[in-house]
Amino acid sequence: MSRLSTLEKLSTSSPVIAPSMLKCNFSRLSDEVAALDAAGSKVLHWDVMDGHFVPNLSYGPMVFAGLREQTDQIFDAHLMISNPQDYLDTYLEAGCDCITIHIEAVPDPTELLTKIRSTNRVAGLSLNPGTNLEAIEPFLSLCDLVLVMSVEPGFGGQAFKPEAVRRISRLREIASPETIISVDGGIGPETIGDCSAAGANLFVAGSAIFNTDNYSEAIAQMRSLAEDCRISESSQE
Ligand code: DX5
Ligand code: ZN
Repeated sequence: MSRLSTLEKLSTSSPVIAPSMLKCNFSRLSDEVAALDAAGSKVLHWDVMDGHFVPNLSYGPMVFAGLREQTDQIFDAHLMISNPQDYLDTYLEAGCDCITIHIEAVPDPTELLTKIRSTNRVAGLSLNPGTNLEAIEPFLSLCDLVLVMSVEPGFGGQAFKPEAVRRISRLREIASPETIISVDGGIGPETIGDCSAAGANLFVAGSAIFNTDNYSEAIAQMRSLAEDCRISESSQE
């Protein structure tokens, strides 16, 4: 999918829920993707971990390449890896539509963000809860998406860190109105409203979807809560 089509689907004018596949049943990965297709999901969030940048391992580009033919959903790759520059091509080749790197892994992400955009994909930059927003500020114009971590990266099922809400509000003030603001970690019916009111529009949710037996209902409920709390267009200007 082209960068512009992906950006259109993730436009800041309406909330989008992105299931975090880290929490799905890996023994039935293909069925889980099909179930999310049926549930109306438009984005799959893939948490890539290398056991070095974070103390956990997950999946990589071969898995995405295998599933790429199965679904039209946007593949949103969240690279929690050291040295993402060494692996970027494999994620591009595997058909990831959005690629997000961490500022803690790449203190000057200019070249990588530029490369992601030049390959017609959405370029994302993420920051951990302990990293100052100032660290990413110089690169905002190179980002299509900023991913605010609301837990320490590495594991699903952690409690939401409420400081993330203030960070989202501040980002919404300093980033372009078109910049997608995503929030990741501990997102569910109790936390999504505050994040939406602060200006986030892409909500990554693992446990809040996969710990239920009705993905469609879980996604629709969160989308509607986010919609109800969304900041108005005029307050964004
Ligand atoms: C954490 C990951 C998250 C996480 C979300 O490193 O980036 O995407 O799996 O899972 P929940 O929604 O359970 O916090
Ligand atoms: Zn993630």
